[in-house]
Amino acid sequence: MALSCHVDGEHHRLRTEPRETLAGLLAGLGSPVGTGCDQGECGVCTVRLDGRPVRSCLILAAQCHGARIHTARSGDPALAGVRAWLSAASALQCGYCTPAFVTLLTDTERRTAEGGPAAVDGPPARHRVSEVTCRCTGYPGLTHAAAGLAAGTSPPGHTPRVEDERLLSGRGDFVGARDLPGQLWARVVRSHVAHAALLRVDVRRALRHPGVSAAYTADDLPEAMRLLHRDLPAPAEPVLATTDLRYAGQPVAVVLAESAAAAEDGAELVDVVCAPRTPLSGPEHGTSHLSDDDPRWIATVRQRVGPDPADVDAAVVLTRTFRLPRQTAMPLETRGLLAEWDARAPRLTVHGVTKHPQLTRELLARSLDLDPRHISLPAGDVGGAFGVKGETHPEDLLVPWLAMRAGRPVKWLEDRAEHVVAAHHSRGMVWRAELRADPDGRLLGAGAEIVADAGAYVRPLTTLQALLATALFPGPYRLPRYRARARCLLTSRTPVGPLRAPGRLEAAFVRERMLDLLAHELNLDPVEVRRRNLLTAADMPYDAGTVNEGPVRYDSGDFLGAYEHAVRRAGAYEQALRRAGSQRPGTSEGTITGASGAPDGTAHGPGGLKGPGSLESPDDPGGSPEDGWRRGTAVVPFVDKAGMGGDERAVATLRPDGTVRIDAAAAPSGQSHRTTLARVAATALGIPRDRVHIVLDDHTSGAAGPGTFASRTATHTGNAVHAACVALRRRAAEWDRAAGADRTAVPLDRIARRGGAGLRAVGRYAVDAHTYPHGAVTCAVAVDPELCLVRVERLAISCDAGRVIDERVVRGQLAGGLVQGVSAALLEEIRYDEREQPLVTGFGEYPLLLAADVPDIDVDLLPPAAPTAGTPYNPLGVKGIGEAGTSAAAAAVAAAICAAVPEWMPAIDRLPLSPEHLMAAVDALARRSGARHRAGRGIPAPRSDT
Ligand code: FES
Ligand code: FES
Repeated sequence: MALSCHVDGEHHRLRTEPRETLAGLLAGLGSPVGTGCDQGECGVCTVRLDGRPVRSCLILAAQCHGARIHTARSGDPALAGVRAWLSAASALQCGYCTPAFVTLLTDTERRTAEGGPAAVDGPPARHRVSEVTCRCTGYPGLTHAAAGLAAGTSPPGHTPRVEDERLLSGRGDFVGARDLPGQLWARVVRSHVAHAALLRVDVRRALRHPGVSAAYTADDLPEAMRLLHRDLPAPAEPVLATTDLRYAGQPVAVVLAESAAAAEDGAELVDVVCAPRTPLSGPEHGTSHLSDDDPRWIATVRQRVGPDPADVDAAVVLTRTFRLPRQTAMPLETRGLLAEWDARAPRLTVHGVTKHPQLTRELLARSLDLDPRHISLPAGDVGGAFGVKGETHPEDLLVPWLAMRAGRPVKWLEDRAEHVVAAHHSRGMVWRAELRADPDGRLLGAGAEIVADAGAYVRPLTTLQALLATALFPGPYRLPRYRARARCLLTSRTPVGPLRAPGRLEAAFVRERMLDLLAHELNLDPVEVRRRNLLTAADMPYDAGTVNEGPVRYDSGDFLGAYEHAVRRAGAYEQALRRAGSQRPGTSEGTITGASGAPDGTAHGPGGLKGPGSLESPDDPGGSPEDGWRRGTAVVPFVDKAGMGGDERAVATLRPDGTVRIDAAAAPSGQSHRTTLARVAATALGIPRDRVHIVLDDHTSGAAGPGTFASRTATHTGNAVHAACVALRRRAAEWDRAAGADRTAVPLDRIARRGGAGLRAVGRYAVDAHTYPHGAVTCAVAVDPELCLVRVERLAISCDAGRVIDERVVRGQLAGGLVQGVSAALLEEIRYDEREQPLVTGFGEYPLLLAADVPDIDVDLLPPAAPTAGTPYNPLGVKGIGEAGTSAAAAAVAAAICAAVPEWMPAIDRLPLSPEHLMAAVDALARRSGARHRAGRGIPAPRSDT
């Protein structure tokens, strides 16, 4: 049907199909409207329709005849104030959700401007912000910005990130918004069963559907197109299923069509005939029936420190089992690719690949029989990745192959339901953990036996979580004896891969639960037990053991000192609240506070606080007893692993206008790499940041590196950029002297004008040692013991992040990571039925935290402990902090719940700590204890299950 409407002031006459949504229509016009679910759940598609904010995925384009639609690109003057506030409050990272927030908050801005603060009668800022989901920021900046706009105040002065202006004005270069002339759309046909023999795939009906141009099965693909499998004894994953279906969501066929809708319709018409088999269940269903040489055990990882813990004479031996569910990254932007093949050049260009461009290029070259130099992977914007994008999935080979085969560009965008089953999962583990301690709670030894759900096929990083879980289980503690074994189990589920803080969130949760249980067993203060075992600066560097990938050697830090600092800070905060009249945190508008944002000093709190930072006693819940909620605070220490090897090279080139081009091999997905690297370069060169131009995708420049993962960009790419800039400055000085100048300063702009343009230097950083950011997470919760509801009331993180390059970026990463970890602790789980069918299709069954669920976050950057600063292997003295916030978050939430309701201590043995699981666990505990009801006070807490 014909349609006439105005979009951002421009008049359009269009044709639309009956089922096209407004979101689809706007995407076709190149408007900055992303989608995260297409089901009205995430709010990322929010635009203004005739002045009202609406979710454009829920509105049919046909309903918009005659309408005026405004997006983040609108010329509305109210947008300037919104953009300024969002930037000042560090309210964006990847920027995928940003157009929605710009649109949403424009309302607030306009009403405030028209009538002043009194005119704002909308919901409080935190609830307003909850209308859109953000996976990156953790919300405090967004809430802060919304509150500032509602109050009609001006944003504080700040230096925006390099990325801000583009993302805030709706000019992000996300793959979904990219189109190429003549492009075809791909739709993948996926297995609906978890395990079956594949008997036949018939694409004939699909090929007869209007608009469908081709359909392919495994028979059409070259044999070389299989995913890497690192020589583990498990099936190599075919790009399209051949003889077996091994997980629900596995690609079986692919349909190419002239439009996304035709491709989707065509895919529905592909007939897949299979004979179901009994699926291989996950580790939570038990593995005692499997012999040690069962082929389902595809890899084993071991860790060993000191003599055997079993030989130590310990007063307490504590053993517990813990279950961690499968979780997944759920970036707001799902995966997507746009591939283009120019046979004459020849050149294959693939938009949307991220994380390991170098590896991906080599894999594509090998699979498609191309010269790697003929493959381009442009670094566009990526709407969050958190480990999931750019790991090799079948589509990463399939879509480029389709473009070559079709001789036309091919676009593939995953929908949310596909993302949940097809993008790799993480975390699914069962732990049997053991602690041995003396009567004073000093650790004598520990052990862990882990079964890790590997999924249906082996991928390059299948064993990563198991490796890191075993390596980091000892954490920040002195542990003289340790043994761990992790076995990876083949199941009929989506293959696994990394998710922010892989292995560490799991290890920290189990470890800290065990320490709390140990304190409970010995009737000691959990804070005191931690104190007695934490490593100090005198222990550094500390060898925590070895794991298959190499030594675990903590480089620097005072773990005990950082913990004491966080405990004092938590105590002082609680004390200040009491002085202020017991107003609980979480009621004010969100902000990330710095060192001066919360009271500091030694606390000897009255009432519920027994001592500095002590956990609150159940006798004095510290909140308002009349509301029936019980409150507890926990401070949990952590050490995270960051940065990882690879030969990293960056190139600095002086340009004719005196600016400097930096070529580097980072692959950003919203972490502010351009801001961080520009600041490193500007500092080393002695020029303003806006005189630096960062280029991340020219593989012919001489820049090289394995990409962005393991929080390595600041440590590895940053140090390579630093080295390149130092070398360029030296070279420029030599050139200047040779040209007759007599000065100590190095004025790059004058040198460039006098003929020095083109001077170039390469910087290299090839150290394979990790850095270990450390600190403590503080979490305060309120718990309704009848309904098993948990409300997080305060979050804080103290972190030694080494030298801080850009404080706003570091604070943002720590806060965002922390909230992602809290979300994992409270909500996230991919559940399966008895046939191993996933029960999740989107945010409805896999909810994420919203702004209303998140309190203020206090990010406290500790001064770097020697010898991090200036250490020879890391000239910048930086530690990677992309994952540090996540690693101890679940541990802190669990400890805080136990502080609030200590009777539940033995019941908390799994994640997520959702009302449903808590209720089941507490009911089971009550049954074991013979108590009549689940409310905390009714359950006598058993000391140990051993
Ligand atoms: S609400 Fe529209 S895409 Fe999620
Ligand atoms: S900044 Fe909100 S989803 Fe990335």
